[in-house]
Amino acid sequence: MTSEPAPTAPGAGESDATSAGATGAGAENRPNVARMYDYYLGGCHNFAADRAAARQVLEIFPDTGVAAQTNRAFLRRAVRYAAERGVRQFLDIGAGLPTQGNVHEVVQSVAPDSRVVYVDYDEVAVAHARRLLGDATRTVVVRGDLRRPDELLTHPDVTASIDLTRPVAVLLVAVLHFVPDAEDPYAAVARLRDATAPGSQLVLSHLTLDGAPPLPAQRSRAVYQQSTAPLVPRTRADILRFFDGYDLVEPGLAWLADWRPDGEPRDGVSHGFGGVGVRA
Ligand SMILES: C[S@@+](CC[C@H](N)C(=O)[O-])C[C@H]1O[C@@H](n2cnc3c(N)ncnc32)[C@H](O)[C@@H]1O
Repeated sequence: MTSEPAPTAPGAGESDATSAGATGAGAENRPNVARMYDYYLGGCHNFAADRAAARQVLEIFPDTGVAAQTNRAFLRRAVRYAAERGVRQFLDIGAGLPTQGNVHEVVQSVAPDSRVVYVDYDEVAVAHARRLLGDATRTVVVRGDLRRPDELLTHPDVTASIDLTRPVAVLLVAVLHFVPDAEDPYAAVARLRDATAPGSQLVLSHLTLDGAPPLPAQRSRAVYQQSTAPLVPRTRADILRFFDGYDLVEPGLAWLADWRPDGEPRDGVSHGFGGVGVRA
């Protein structure tokens, strides 16, 4: 794997995805948000049902693939920022399937002693990440749920890698828009904040439909309603609330392409906001 993105288009790497390591009968029949995102990124770890649902979204919002690349580019810039400011522990919650420019590759290129814990609640994403990242140093993959932060923080593989008395970057990148308000994502984020040491960082990106026409927005949400998680876009004001207790670094909560741009990706279409906060 390399730390730079390849120029890919949605569906560039279609396959039968049997290598995705799906477990559980029928896992491939229901569109899965991790594998739909893999398809948007041009990956090959997706099944026919994922591709069909992703293509429906691409018909509604044709620049979804570019927007996914923009999100990944934000992630790379943000974790590089954290590593360059001395953070050496990364807890990537909702990490998804490994792709090019993974967090451990970026941060270990800055500081080889950086440790990364990848977390996802999806057994397919976890199985596949374990298979692909098996040889990566100072990197572990844990199955865990953002909505149950205490279980996550006390998981033996997390406590073995992350020292909560030292600064840690908590990554919640393109994951909170799969957690409805009824499941109290704000409390989960606050719990993670309170468990981490001063100087810790929150790296967050989140889908918005601010400015999107209502009918296509409604149609895209209907597609996700049939998938493994509902889509919960939020307004900028509601996304900002996740940073309670953090000082946002410049430029604040910004459109993803506008957060400390470094020239990539080429088109920079943003479907969401992102920011980095530092815990006082
Ligand atoms: C769109 S992908 C984002 C992947 C990666 N963070 C990125 O931005 O490139 C969202 C991921 O969040 C995971 N996810 C959704 N809800 C979750 C939860 N409650 N706990 C842990 N992972 C979750 C999904 O399984 C999926 O892999």
